[in-house]
Amino acid sequence: MSDIRLARVPLAALPTPVDELPRLSDRLGCRIYVKRDDLTGLAMGGNKTRKLEYLVADAISAGARTLITAGAPQSNHCRQTAAAAARMGLRCVLILSGEQSQPQTSTGNILLDRLLGAEIVWTEGKDRDAMMEQVLEGERLAGHQPYLIPYGGSNPIGAAAYAVAMLEFAAQNIEVDWVVFATSSGGTQAGLALGARLGGLKARLHAISVDKPTSPFRDRVSELANRTAEKIGAEYRIRPDELIVDDRFVGAGYGKPDALELGAISLFARMEGILLDPVYTGRAAGGMLSMIRSREIAPGARVLFWHTGGTPALWAYSAQLAAFNG
Ligand SMILES: Cc1ncc(COP(=O)(O)O)c(C=O)c1O
Repeated sequence: MSDIRLARVPLAALPTPVDELPRLSDRLGCRIYVKRDDLTGLAMGGNKTRKLEYLVADAISAGARTLITAGAPQSNHCRQTAAAAARMGLRCVLILSGEQSQPQTSTGNILLDRLLGAEIVWTEGKDRDAMMEQVLEGERLAGHQPYLIPYGGSNPIGAAAYAVAMLEFAAQNIEVDWVVFATSSGGTQAGLALGARLGGLKARLHAISVDKPTSPFRDRVSELANRTAEKIGAEYRIRPDELIVDDRFVGAGYGKPDALELGAISLFARMEGILLDPVYTGRAAGGMLSMIRSREIAPGARVLFWHTGGTPALWAYSAQLAAFNG
């Protein structure tokens, strides 16, 4: 599929399908496709499965016995890291921002983290980076050979997985004008941008920011894409102004869905039987719908929505979702 030579452990069901959405396309007057990375597998799927194939391979080749990572309480990345650790027979420690006593600590992704056997450390108001260092040191002293995976798995090893993912899409031979997806820690975007260069894809890559302003985030994504290119031995370099980070839909902020996200979730579910999530894909799809309705995405355009997963978080927002759907 590609000539990217990085060690990989097979964790994902690949290639993920590309579904055409006929009913939604009719309704919106565009041709809508979905790249189903919600179906990557590994404890309910999502974009992190792809990144973890390479990150876990690197951990194993470094002799690691424990995976450590951190995230928001409903982090999909943490849930999938816990699943990858279970699959490979490794320990997993997750540092989650928040207090153990807060509501929602036994539902959605947190419930799955526990089922998957991860040890959860709550920051309880302390600095998350400092706690990661502390946990790392504790695991080292206990002889557990820890391996630290950054937030969202977004380093050059994790991002390389999305360069490969874009080559996978290119090989599916579906011509599109737009590729719309959620961006947060930037690894998915950096990889997709690099993969588009490698595969000669002409579509406009339109990343919808879940939580950060365009500037300076675009600089970080560009820097990550370039470090990823170096890692895989590619000549390409991507400037910040070649990347689109659309921050118009951040709304009330991370993890705070409103009518934009809830409306998109409802529309995809009722018209196509596809579940989005309240934090990432609901926001990205809401932004895409808004751009189609305002004709910023022209009528008749061929649009790929890259579904990055996250559906287990739906349960953490059940009251809001139930109230919205009546
Ligand atoms: C469901 C989902 N979609 C999109 C993203 C964003 O991906 P990235 O962090 O690579 O920007 C995440 C990150 O956690 C996610 O969980």
